Amino acid sequence: MKHAKSSGGTKANLLFRQAYEYIVTRMDRGEWQAHDKLPSIRLLAQELQVHRLTVFRAYQLLKQNERAYVKEKSGYYVSPCKSEEQALNEHEESPRSLTASSVLKNALSEIQQIPVKYQFSQALIDPNLLPNLFLSEHVKQVFDIYPKLMGTYSSAQGDEELREYLCRYMVRHHHLRLTVSDILITTGGQQAIDLISRIYIRPMDPVLVERPTYSAALDIFRQQGARLVPVEITPNGYDLAAVEKLMQKHKPRIFYMNPTFHNPTGYTVPAAQRKLLVELAERYRCLLIEDDAIHEMYLDQPPPQPMLTYDTEGWVVYLRSFSKYVAPGLRICAVMGGPSVIKPLITAKSLADNGTPLVNQKMFLHYFESARIQQHLEKLRIALQIRKEIVEEELASTGWHWISPQGGFNLWLRLPDFIPVDRLLEECLRHSVSFVPGVICDPLKEMQSWIRLSYSFVNEEHLRDGVRRLVDIAGRYGPQPQ
Ligand SMILES: Cc1ncc(COP(=O)(O)O)c(C=O)c1O
Repeated sequence: MKHAKSSGGTKANLLFRQAYEYIVTRMDRGEWQAHDKLPSIRLLAQELQVHRLTVFRAYQLLKQNERAYVKEKSGYYVSPCKSEEQALNEHEESPRSLTASSVLKNALSEIQQIPVKYQFSQALIDPNLLPNLFLSEHVKQVFDIYPKLMGTYSSAQGDEELREYLCRYMVRHHHLRLTVSDILITTGGQQAIDLISRIYIRPMDPVLVERPTYSAALDIFRQQGARLVPVEITPNGYDLAAVEKLMQKHKPRIFYMNPTFHNPTGYTVPAAQRKLLVELAERYRCLLIEDDAIHEMYLDQPPPQPMLTYDTEGWVVYLRSFSKYVAPGLRICAVMGGPSVIKPLITAKSLADNGTPLVNQKMFLHYFESARIQQHLEKLRIALQIRKEIVEEELASTGWHWISPQGGFNLWLRLPDFIPVDRLLEECLRHSVSFVPGVICDPLKEMQSWIRLSYSFVNEEHLRDGVRRLVDIAGRYGPQPQ
């Protein structure tokens, strides 16, 4: 399968664009303010460890985009942004507080916050598919067992009883050599990605990421000033020779990956590659961040064992979130890895919030270990299979391209080039339909013709209506679907 645009020429340009983004990020954070002199080309090239020409091109682009101006024989200076100047005139806040927020971006969350009837941008289980009635009895039981629950903090690492249970669970299911101290509980997978990035990423550090990938992870890494190095993911996994070359060339400290029912494509990296990837990680001392947010949401076959199973030297940190399909409201994720990774993460967690609420952890523990949850997972798989089939049926006549996923919540669709996805999204939102534009999942911001359509959140009847509405709106942009 080919992606919307070849990345060949882009790779040559990647470095200068990343240097550009790095400078813009620092400007947006208010570190370099209007009319400040920017570092000389030589100094910045030294700091970023890139060629001077790379910084020169980044400065040229800043000039072209009116983010910087030149003073003869002096150097480059930060241009005042129009919006910033206007805002300053209108408010009395400091420029730092005004600009600091502009660098924070979560493109996915912005789309998801728009209320719509046909919500295809949420890769989350439909709340109606959860055993809600049973949950209220369960809550009462948990408070009976732990009457002081509301009055107690969890440790920063997470409730020991929960970690013990999860340790046994993971050893039983994935043949891991794991101890209770190798587990940290975070408030969702999102927090785990954020904590890891705070520890491991400094500005301009190279980070390997799949292309495409989970867009919020990209936003987190960008926020830390990372230099994103894309690794193409295909239905057959990665090109391991290419991964090795990237590790040799960039010496990244981390490779963030989502190898099981990958978000957004649904692809799963085959078992044979997993062991080899761990060997590469060991050889090139690159930590693999294995994000496994929907492990149990397979349709026919359980997925291969996690990469963590093959890790003997501590080069994999494994994020097993349960918030997508077990209990979204509780936001429980287990982070697993060797002591060299887990210890600094516990410190980062203690700095962030001192521990995930104990009530959530105990609720989750008793819910997850009940027999009911296992039956519930089985029902969920059936419901997801039905929903996926409905969407595929409705899309069958469009001529759009996708590879039917074997698990997960999403279809990753390639639309014909004549459909402008940005305009399609605007129009769809006006008609109460949302989806994720592929471009936000692409570290190169190029996948203009792709969209992610989540079929997990919307009930069957609405699913059919919503997809019809989407196809109908898309049909206005060119030849009718055949
Ligand atoms: C791949 C991936 N990782 C992490 C997350 C965030 O998970 P959580 O809801 O547990 O924070 C998501 C949510 O969409 C995801 O798709």
